[in-house]
Amino acid sequence: MRQKIVAGNWKMNTTVPQGVELAKEVVALGAALKDCKLVVAPPFTHLYAVEQVVKGTAVALSAQNCADHTSGAYTGEVAVDMLESVGCEYCILGHSERRQYYGETDQTLCTKIKLVLDKNIKPIFCIGENLEEREAGKHFQIVEDQVKNVLYTLSAEEMKKVVVAYEPVWAIGTGKTATAEQAQEIHACVRKCIADKFGAELAEEITILYGGSCKPSNAKEIFAQKDIDGGLIGGAALKAADFIAIGESF
Ligand code: PGA
Repeated sequence: MRQKIVAGNWKMNTTVPQGVELAKEVVALGAALKDCKLVVAPPFTHLYAVEQVVKGTAVALSAQNCADHTSGAYTGEVAVDMLESVGCEYCILGHSERRQYYGETDQTLCTKIKLVLDKNIKPIFCIGENLEEREAGKHFQIVEDQVKNVLYTLSAEEMKKVVVAYEPVWAIGTGKTATAEQAQEIHACVRKCIADKFGAELAEEITILYGGSCKPSNAKEIFAQKDIDGGLIGGAALKAADFIAIGESF
């Protein structure tokens, strides 16, 4: 059985006190959830305080990014050691907003994913095509390339620790969701691409999340798909009740 995960990507939202409050609500409301693991990914400034809230609960902590160097003169960056020291179990990598606005390339992501894995932090590795690529019918090719360029550089042992998140860029924060069929066919393609390199058995074990305007009203249909193992949630993760309702959608 693959692990089901619902992860909340808070992006650049909430102050520290608001984030602590949100984490407390997620812990309280999520306590009864049995079928999936909850993960919260607050901004860097919140990680230490949120860790105090989630420590010893079923809710896991994630960062939204990390530096591509281990330490030193990189003003404004946050290293994996620092994430480890505040109890991050996961780290989102390659979110489309990082790729689009901060110039993250597959090459940078190869470095980051290694650094994260070396610290035993599990990467939530994001992939997905933009609208232009979808309209040109290139979506399968784009996600396959993203998987090959980064995940194919890992060993099988490393690959086993990776969570993949398929997020069509045209669905992120737009209110437009991929249909369950559109999401499923990409997830199946990603799983096959992983199987081609690492074998079918390993690929069957990999958790692949869907992200992009996922909310309580559409999560059930999306999560019912064979190759969809949960969600990476943006907007709807900022309200604990909505986030938990998504977690209840399996
Ligand atoms: P959204 O964001 O749920 O607000 O569309 C998802 C994400 O970017 O991870």
